[in-house]
Amino acid sequence: MATYRRFIFVCTGSDCKKSGCKVLQREIKELIQSEDHKGKFKVIKTKCMDFCKSAPTVVINNEVIKKADISSIRKKL
Ligand code: FES
Repeated sequence: MATYRRFIFVCTGSDCKKSGCKVLQREIKELIQSEDHKGKFKVIKTKCMDFCKSAPTVVINNEVIKKADISSIRKKL
C-alpha cells in the first residue's frame, strides 16, 4: 500500500467546476507526477467545502487555498 506524505483535496462542487477545477485537478496530477513529488501526494476530489465565492478551492495540509491556480499549488508543495 502506498504511503503518501500529504493529501490534496480539490473541490469539485458546482462553483468550483465553473471556475475550472477539472483543469486544475489535471494540472495538479501532472505536477505531483514530476520527479520531485512522485509518490508523495494523493489528490482527492471533494464536494463543496463552502468557500464557493473563492472558487476553485483546494486544501493542502489543512490549509485552504482560495482562488487556487497551479502556481499557488506549486508554492505549497
Ligand atoms: S463549490 Fe467548491 S467550495 Fe463550494
